[in-house]
Amino acid sequence: MADLGPCYFVIFGATGNLAARKLLPALYQLEAADRLNTDLRFLAFARRDWTLSEWLGFLKQSIQEHLGDSFDAAVFQRFEARFDYVMGDLNDPQAYKRMMDELSKPRMGVCENMVFYLAIKPSDFLVVIEQLSKIGISRTHGRHRIVVEKPFGEDIASAQELNTKLHRYFDEDQIYRIDHYLGKETVQNLLVFRFANTLIEPIWNRNYIDHVQITVAESEGVGRRAGYYDTAGAMRDMLQNHLMQLLTLVAMEPPAILEADALADEKVKVLRSIRPIPPQGVGEHAYRAQYAAGRVNGKDAPGYLEEPGVAKGSATETFVAAKFYIDNWRWRNVPFYVRTGKRLAENSSLIAIRFRHPPQLLFHDAGAAHIDPNWILLSMQPTECMHIELHAKEPGLGMNTRIVRLNASYRPTQATTMEAYKTLLLDVVEGDRSLFLRFDEVEWAWRVVDPILRDWSRRRDYIATYPAGSWGPREAGRLFEREDQVWRNEI
Ligand SMILES: NC(=O)c1ccc[n+]([C@@H]2O[C@H](COP(=O)([O-])OP(=O)(O)OC[C@H]3O[C@@H](n4cnc5c(N)ncnc54)[C@H](OP(=O)(O)O)[C@@H]3O)[C@@H](O)[C@H]2O)c1
Repeated sequence: MADLGPCYFVIFGATGNLAARKLLPALYQLEAADRLNTDLRFLAFARRDWTLSEWLGFLKQSIQEHLGDSFDAAVFQRFEARFDYVMGDLNDPQAYKRMMDELSKPRMGVCENMVFYLAIKPSDFLVVIEQLSKIGISRTHGRHRIVVEKPFGEDIASAQELNTKLHRYFDEDQIYRIDHYLGKETVQNLLVFRFANTLIEPIWNRNYIDHVQITVAESEGVGRRAGYYDTAGAMRDMLQNHLMQLLTLVAMEPPAILEADALADEKVKVLRSIRPIPPQGVGEHAYRAQYAAGRVNGKDAPGYLEEPGVAKGSATETFVAAKFYIDNWRWRNVPFYVRTGKRLAENSSLIAIRFRHPPQLLFHDAGAAHIDPNWILLSMQPTECMHIELHAKEPGLGMNTRIVRLNASYRPTQATTMEAYKTLLLDVVEGDRSLFLRFDEVEWAWRVVDPILRDWSRRRDYIATYPAGSWGPREAGRLFEREDQVWRNEI
């Protein structure tokens, strides 16, 4: 699909956490970079009874708060001039009529091109899609695109229902299922690292790799998102989408061409090859826990149950670790350990690939039973870098070894980063779907985690805890196959 040209970009949930922290600052940065078409206008849809100027005050505050020194009054003046505001409840048909009246005002001549961004609770997606169809937004009217945030559904059945409803009104090439991890440059760099280096490909398999670890750790707690998070938990909020996407990118075969469907085909093959977890095997494959009070970055942090908006006695997991096997030629019997959690020791996103031990130990420090194996570390947070750990001789007498790190920094520290949402929002307007999810990816990812969720839903009376500020519960280590496998927390 091509660039939409003159276009209205409607943001449902424009006053929410995602909009304030990510979407609005990213759109502002695109304005600052002169990447927004002159004929692009935004319509903020929210339920606060605000005038346009009150909304613009919120917009300015959000951008100043999140971009700090890079705020530029002249850029903001251009940016704010693109906005209209409609107050309404998502369930109220009249609100959509008001929205259409606003969109029909002759600001840009006749403009049938529209993007609808659902920055709202997943439980509100369906009502908005239905209301949009009632006011004539559908595949037969202009070029309409709809952006659906994650999580797409809350299990396989609800994801299928949402997809069926979406397809009633929109064609697949109008639907942008977003997973902002795919917009991160270091995640895209993983594809370059794997498929542009002949050095890597021959060793990227079960013959050389002992296991793979994927960690996405957050030091923040649930914040003001308890209403949503308490019904979702870490499995639905993070693992089913972001971590499964990272896993597929580590494990996939090279695509025939670098194009949306070819990439999705390879990712789906990985997901389909994941060994199903039997109902009686959930305990061996997955571990969940919830943060208790503790200290994070030197400050006291409350436990999850004390956070505002969390249901009394909630057993929602804020940490999940899981082990998956991919039953194909490349990966059979190589464990993929994935974990994610809130209120962990630091913000860190790390793919750590551990190689096998050398077959013969010729060199080792006196007394050491073995030397550490090689690792490849791909870090997305807090720094974007790639390290390869190798052994070299310790200078001096003797034949002892030490670890040296080949450091392939992704970018110079002073270079500006391309925020994931900036890339993705531009892709939506420009009609590039290669960094968005096809439904079968979402569906297969749900198939993988559904047995775990079903088992946990039957056990709501107890959940283990871990202290805020730690690296999660010690018991998560029991997923490891062998004693020499341990979580890698640092690069
Ligand atoms: N926050 C993140 O970092 C993040 C990251 C990735 C994905 N997501 C996804 O993004 C979506 C939004 O998350 P969020 O954290 O921004 O949620 P949020 O902070 O709860 O915001 C929800 C938005 O929807 C509005 N809203 C709620 N009910 C409404 C109603 N009945 N009528 C009209 N407006 C209504 C809220 O308006 P009020 O302000 O008036 O309540 C607010 O603007 C979710 O699907 C989430 O999974 C969020």
